[in-house]
Amino acid sequence: MYTYQGKTALVTGASSGIGKAMAYALATRGMNLILVARSEKTLNEIALQLAQRHNVRTEVIAADLIQSEAVAAVQKSVQERELVVDLLVNDAGFGSYGHFETLDPQRDHDEVMLNAAVVVDMSHAFLPAMVARGEGAIINISSTGAFQPGPYMAVYGASKAFVLSFSVALWAEYRTRGIRVVAVCPGPVDTQFFNAAGPGSQHMAAGGKKVAPEGVVAKGLSALERGQSHVVPGGLNIISSTILPIPSCHPERQRRISLPITTDPSLRGGVTFCDGSNGQGLFFTIEPCLSVDLTGLTHQRSYLLRVQDGVFQP
Ligand SMILES: NC(=O)c1ccc[n+]([C@@H]2O[C@H](COP(=O)([O-])OP(=O)(O)OC[C@H]3O[C@@H](n4cnc5c(N)ncnc54)[C@H](OP(=O)(O)O)[C@@H]3O)[C@@H](O)[C@H]2O)c1
Repeated sequence: MYTYQGKTALVTGASSGIGKAMAYALATRGMNLILVARSEKTLNEIALQLAQRHNVRTEVIAADLIQSEAVAAVQKSVQERELVVDLLVNDAGFGSYGHFETLDPQRDHDEVMLNAAVVVDMSHAFLPAMVARGEGAIINISSTGAFQPGPYMAVYGASKAFVLSFSVALWAEYRTRGIRVVAVCPGPVDTQFFNAAGPGSQHMAAGGKKVAPEGVVAKGLSALERGQSHVVPGGLNIISSTILPIPSCHPERQRRISLPITTDPSLRGGVTFCDGSNGQGLFFTIEPCLSVDLTGLTHQRSYLLRVQDGVFQP
């Protein structure tokens, strides 16, 4: 279990998408909130609404976290307001889609800073006090992109692999010291992300439907409550994060995987994923091939997944 009521969460990226949904979900559970992003006006509107609806304390710290000294300024502002951060949510992030040589080097640099370095800096800023109190929690928003090198979004995937690795290592390091750390690894989510990533990025989600941010947040909070190190919301995303670690570099591959028997029934009969390239896709066929229950503890069904390169037909 994890107690939310009366505690304070700091959420980066709270002005939009998953971060905004996280702020709403935490306020519903009785948490006070510190909302961080660049869009001050939007944050103020969200803060007012949450305070009125849920009778929680809400604070806004407008910051461009890519700027040097921004994290230090956020930390100082938290201290000046005499707030204690019980739960840190590192959500702010963005991606860039396209051939690597066409992407703006400064934007790629900023992407690494925001998606990876800021996560480390924010953890340095707020984790030591959690350790001193013997309790605290961090939720880092990673991605299914963490599990596989992602052509046309190479920097993004690498930055999210960093977040996943960093989070799981901290989870192991602090699990016996009262601190929970969980990486949430969503697939495509219906947010402003794809607009920010640029034209063509919609192909990244073409094979799978985008899910609502609220569902991703619910899975993330459930993982936090259970003390998990990471969570991949959604059955199809579990598959893509299982099979695609040998991705888009091999012409044909197949792998036997096991999934909980309760996994999304829409998996049966086959699905098609797109690997993000323009028109080029990966075709996955998924065939139930064996039922196993060896341990008696878990019910698993084994699937054979065949993957072939091909042309994606939206
Ligand atoms: N959507 C997806 O399909 C998906 C899938 C997996 C993982 N994710 C991850 O989920 C996280 C949230 O993304 P989203 O999908 O919710 O996209 P989004 O709607 O575009 O939200 C991004 C958030 O990050 C904030 N942000 C961006 N640059 C910032 C900066 N320099 N300083 C401070 N805040 C900044 C934005 O606020 P301002 O513009 O107001 O600063 C916004 O609140 C990201 O880490 C993303 O990589 C998204």
